[in-house]
Amino acid sequence: MPTDSFEIEGLAAERKLEGKLAINGAKNAVIKVLAAAILFKDEVRLDNVPAIEDVFRMEELLGHLGAEVTEEGPNKFLINTSQINEWRVDEGISKRLRASVVATGPLLARLGKVHFPHPGGCVIGKRPIDIFLEGFQAMGATLKEDEKGYDLKAPDGLTGAEIFLKVPSVTATETFLMTAVLAKGKTVIKNAALEPEICSLGNFLKSCGANIEGLGTPTITVAGDGLLSGVNKTYTTMPDRIEAGSFIILAALLAKDLEIFNCDPTHLDSLIHLLKQSGVKMEVGKDYIRIKDDQGDFKAVDIKTHEYPGFPTDLQAPMSIFLTQALGQSFVFETIFEGRLNYLETLARFGANTRVLDAHRAIIEGKTKLHGKEVESPDLRAGLAYVLAGLVAEGKSIVHNVYYIDRGYERIDERLAKVGALIRRTA
Ligand code: EPZ
Repeated sequence: MPTDSFEIEGLAAERKLEGKLAINGAKNAVIKVLAAAILFKDEVRLDNVPAIEDVFRMEELLGHLGAEVTEEGPNKFLINTSQINEWRVDEGISKRLRASVVATGPLLARLGKVHFPHPGGCVIGKRPIDIFLEGFQAMGATLKEDEKGYDLKAPDGLTGAEIFLKVPSVTATETFLMTAVLAKGKTVIKNAALEPEICSLGNFLKSCGANIEGLGTPTITVAGDGLLSGVNKTYTTMPDRIEAGSFIILAALLAKDLEIFNCDPTHLDSLIHLLKQSGVKMEVGKDYIRIKDDQGDFKAVDIKTHEYPGFPTDLQAPMSIFLTQALGQSFVFETIFEGRLNYLETLARFGANTRVLDAHRAIIEGKTKLHGKEVESPDLRAGLAYVLAGLVAEGKSIVHNVYYIDRGYERIDERLAKVGALIRRTA
């Protein structure tokens, strides 16, 4: 799949970025609300939808299922769901969008059957779906698996069940939350994830009549009440805390005077706490964070990724770029995924002093001068980390496979260039 590249002229760690960066709607909230449209008998309206590849893929997936997706204005969409009748999830799309797995439960609940391919694992780990398959069967579905994928059937509909998640999986929590809306009777999800995106999804479904208790706690209870109506209801996408965190890390490294706004700092307590521990000075407002060039040296700090409200695994790679510029030895413990330290090998090519101890642990020794390199984005967050490394480095970098970065960051080259980054897209 041919994709663009970014050419970056590094700032050699000079604090030159200034201006304001607006945060867009959250990828990991809006693609679930798009999938939740399957629960509606008529329509769903969404606002503040980011123009990113994962949103385009989920909209294409809905189109294949028989929904009608209409753009009603900038970042505004109307999904007509009255004609959803296709129970096979399109293989091409779901291979490119692992999160399409969240659509399987609502489809199974609405149509009584669903077929979907083995979801693409990706470079950050195996990413099994055993929790999903176990939960669907607990709700009364029968499962057949062949080399093409999974066939789930529930001709008499699904029945509410008590589902214990062996790990507080984000998309599994969201999938059962949605599926339970159409199941008969009560569903209790135990050891549920606490991410803000789950509350955003659940509160929208409640505003459309769904009967949900316990959002933001480890136990979520849903009473199945049947298809919802979205008439006169609009979901406004919450701000993307991972995009905001990525830009805050950039500002900590290179801001002359940079304000990241339209964000919710209360979703970023773990990052803010860690950066302050390292010595970063910042102004934290209600919906903005401002960082200036009144910084001293940064101290090495340790990262341990953890489910929300712990340090987000999606900020582990961007934060490691910061650690290369902090004085001393930082310890990185990636507890969520077993393949999410692979990017450190490439980071070492920029000049970082990294040591990978095992699939979950690494050490970063700072402060090291980074030099521009030509690299390939292996996935969304490592790709962003390479952009940060290229901006910090001295000299020119080229980052290939920018499709991965476009999956989760809208027009990041144009937005960063506006605040002084020397970055441009090349086909
Ligand atoms: C969501 O992925 C996010 N994706 C990920 O963001 C994020 O990194 C992750 O949550 C953790 O916060 C979306 O929301 C679309 P998990 P998800 O299930 O739900 C294991 C990004 O860059 N597991 O919470 O797939 C799994 O292997 C992406 O935006 C099972 O064992 O993650 C992992 O070790 C990357 N069996 C752990 O749970 C299952 O059936 C947590 O994964 C499911 C998951």
